[in-house]
Amino acid sequence: MKLLVIYKSKTGFTEKYAKWISDELDCPAVSYEDLKTVNISEYDIIIFGSRIHAGRVDGLSKFKKQLEENDNKKLVVFATGATPAAAKDEIENIWKTTFPTEEQLKTPHFYMQAGLSYEKMGVGDCFIMKALAKFLSEKNSKNSVENGCEQAIRNSYDISSKEYIDPLISYIREK
Ligand SMILES: Cc1cc2nc3c(=O)[nH]c(=O)nc-3n(C[C@H](O)[C@H](O)[C@H](O)COP(=O)(O)O)c2cc1C
Repeated sequence: MKLLVIYKSKTGFTEKYAKWISDELDCPAVSYEDLKTVNISEYDIIIFGSRIHAGRVDGLSKFKKQLEENDNKKLVVFATGATPAAAKDEIENIWKTTFPTEEQLKTPHFYMQAGLSYEKMGVGDCFIMKALAKFLSEKNSKNSVENGCEQAIRNSYDISSKEYIDPLISYIREK
């Protein structure tokens, strides 16, 4: 079974997870920008990883369209985010937004907690985060999620850890 990891990463978290996965499964990991350098049709399973961006998996819809041109490719998705893995409801909501139909939800998907890096973030993303921080600080009655979010986005942090690849690795090994 030939496996390929394709990752989209702005601040390095998804790239780090992609490399852990490729090391563990002994398969190549290719950045989405270098997609043209590989022939997807040679692989049986494509593992696509990207960041969560405003509640969605960044670039997944576009990549799925590119994949549709290659029949019989099995897609496995992993997403990295600032949300802690323990926040099950929030992560569940992200998947429901990402895969709005029951059929789509059958795509194997895995969440890996990562963090935030203001140092590596682009100007546009920095602007969005500052606007969110301002909105939350000015909001009078915040619920617990909003309170947690306000604390979490104050500074950069890294809560990534290799163990979060384990469910994906087990899934692939059972195939
Ligand atoms: C503008 C913006 C929006 C984000 N939205 C979310 C989100 O909705 N949920 C989440 O868990 N993380 C969110 N994040 C955090 C990123 O998903 C997280 O930092 C991710 O691991 C970055 O991956 P990368 O380093 O591979 O680019 C957001 C980050 C930015 C800059």
